[in-house]
Amino acid sequence: MDRTRPAPQDLLEIAVDVARDAAATAYRMRAEGVSVAATKSTVTDVVTAADRAVERQVLDALRRLRPDDAVLGEEYGAGETGPVGPGGVRWIIDPIDGTVNYLYGLPHSAVSLAAEVDGKVVAGVVRNVSTGEEWTATAGGGAWRDGARLRCSTETDLGQALVATGFGYDPRRRAHQARVIAELITQVRDIRRLGAAALDLCLAAEGRVDAYYEKGLAAWDLAAGGLVAAEAGLRVSGLGGLPAGPDLVIAAPPALFAPLHDRLAVLDASGGP
Ligand code: IPD
Repeated sequence: MDRTRPAPQDLLEIAVDVARDAAATAYRMRAEGVSVAATKSTVTDVVTAADRAVERQVLDALRRLRPDDAVLGEEYGAGETGPVGPGGVRWIIDPIDGTVNYLYGLPHSAVSLAAEVDGKVVAGVVRNVSTGEEWTATAGGGAWRDGARLRCSTETDLGQALVATGFGYDPRRRAHQARVIAELITQVRDIRRLGAAALDLCLAAEGRVDAYYEKGLAAWDLAAGGLVAAEAGLRVSGLGGLPAGPDLVIAAPPALFAPLHDRLAVLDASGGP
């Protein structure tokens, strides 16, 4: 079927409207009190009632606005949608990235919503549930926060770089990640573990950290924030020219990419369980 490809800007407008309503729901549910509804990969990998309610709200809104599109969400997976045809759109939803922060009332969690066309992310929004800060990007259209165009850090010295990262939920994976950090922290300005991958990527997009890396990200952690970072000038990639993905995501300004990449390769950052 020859479909007309939707313009990234049109998809972004939908994403922003839907993400704002979703973030409002998450904010309200947090204010009303929140508790663990279930656990996923480990006992510390939690789901709250808000994760589920927010994703359900996003799914319902997208179904109403774009009934033929596919979706992939953190809580409900691909839901009832079928495969994506040529020119078709797939939405990628993280209803609450930074769920543990959200559970503890730390103001660092976000709704993340991206639109992919033919397997390529073309529009994305990340909205901080607590502060209302909102980052957006379209492929080729730049990265933005609240009307300001974003540019990544111009740092060129890895030894001066503030590097964000995160940890998986599996203790064996964490042990390996801790070994990597134990070395890397001696070679950079400092490390930040803020607890929400989508926000880490957005902070890198505006130079509030210089770079970011993490092993184990899912598509919904990376999709919107990865586009924001790339459109702000960061190189977003895996090891050895592989695309960014579950094995490793490195997001670094062009001058920092090679030194950070090479350190992470030596430290086997994509290895371990
Ligand atoms: C997690 C956060 C965290 C990162 C983990 C993710 P969740 O997502 O983004 O910062 O280190 O890898 O799983 O579970 O809060 O949606």
